[in-house]
Order: sequence, then C-alpha cells, then structure tokens
Amino acid sequence: MKVLLVNGSPRGNGNTAAALQEMQKVFEEEGVECKVLHVGNKDVRGCLACNRCGQTGQCVIDDIVNETRKDFEECDGMVVGAPVYYASANATLVAYLTRLFYSSKFDKRMKVGASVTVARRGGCAAAFDELNKFFTISGMPVASSRYWNMVYGMNPGDAAQDEEGMATVRELARNMVFLMKGIALAKEQYGLPEREPRKATNFIR
Ligand SMILES: Cc1cc2nc3c(=O)[nH]c(=O)nc-3n(C[C@H](O)[C@H](O)[C@H](O)COP(=O)(O)O)c2cc1C
Repeated sequence: MKVLLVNGSPRGNGNTAAALQEMQKVFEEEGVECKVLHVGNKDVRGCLACNRCGQTGQCVIDDIVNETRKDFEECDGMVVGAPVYYASANATLVAYLTRLFYSSKFDKRMKVGASVTVARRGGCAAAFDELNKFFTISGMPVASSRYWNMVYGMNPGDAAQDEEGMATVRELARNMVFLMKGIALAKEQYGLPEREPRKATNFIR
C-alpha cells in the first residue's frame, strides 16, 4: 500500500512539510509506504489548453508533471499539502495538480485523496474546498478527520505548536489508512463499480 505526499510549498522545511511529516509518521507506523514529492520549489507553469494530452497521455510541458505521473498511477492514496496564499492554495501546487489530473488518463477511481492546508490565519477553508475538487471529479473518495484539515503557523517551526492541527492530520492519516485497506478489500471482493459512458454536455445551444 502506497501513499504519495505532495508538498506544494516552496519551503522544504516549512509548516506544510511539518504537517505532512506528521502524517508520514502515522503511515509508516501502519506499514504504508510513503513517497514525498516536493513540488512547490519547482518551476511549474499552468495548463496551455492544447489538449495534446488527450492523444498522448502526457503533458506537452515535460516537467515534474510527466516525471511523477507513474507515482500517481501506482499510489493507493494521495495527500496534497498547500500553504495558503491569498486565501487559496498556492499557485504552483494548483498548476501542478491541474496539469497532472488533466493529462493523466488512467482510472483514478477509489484512490483515496486528502488535502491539508496551512496558513498564518485565514483562507484554509477555501483552499481546502479548492483542493478537494481535484479528487471529487476523479472518483476519488476523500478522507476526512475530526476537523477540517487546517494547520496554523507563519514561520517554519510554528506548526508544531498547533496541537489541534497536528492531531487533526494524525487522525486524518489513520482514517486514510482504514479507507485504503477497506477499498483494497472491496476491490478484491466486488471489483470497481460500473461506469457510465462519457457524455459531455457543454451547454452550447
Ligand atoms: C504570497 C503569500 C501569501 C500568503 N497569503 C496568506 C493568506 O491568505 N492567509 C494566511 O493566513 N496566510 C498567508 N500567507 C502565510 C502562509 O500561508 C504561512 O506562512 C504558511 O505557514 C506557509 O507555509 P509553509 O511554511 O509550508 O510555506 C501567505 C504567504 C505568502 C508567501
């Protein structure tokens, strides 16, 4: 069982990293393999809307998105951690996720998703909703905790003092492991649910 932890912050040792490390400890205690991707310090531009990925299954911009597609395909769960910038998830992470999800044509259903947001003070709820939408358009169940997944801190090291935030992400990791195990059993016993044929209604008269 594998989890991919995506750090959207440009800081490798900041508060987002601290929240993800807290989850990683739980995953490893539970025997779940972890891969941490540091995305926020990379040069990631947004989607060009060229739609070439529809033919190739790759993004025309050959960067960390193409490099990490296999990690996404192979994982049973994905955690995305975002620092909040202007009450949204930071732009680098959103650019990465937009291009990764759009250009990856494999079946993402029943991979478990979770998002963790980190801020000094405001905007976590909006960023949390924004990030969960990548999962909920992809047939990915979203793991939850005893509070929305928010950790507070301004400077590196601050997050460790947010006891409630850290407890929230630890519990999130445990719930995620439970869901991944349950889904693995259900897949074995019942297989994946039947899909509807794709019918895109673009609201053009
Ligand atoms: C460009 C920028 C915008 C920010 N906007 C917000 C914001 O809207 N709300 C907030 O509470 N904190 C904001 N912050 C503070 C960060 O969210 C905070 O420092 C967080 O701990 C950063 O996480 P990191 O240490 O993982 O990078 C902003 C920081 C930067 C650099």
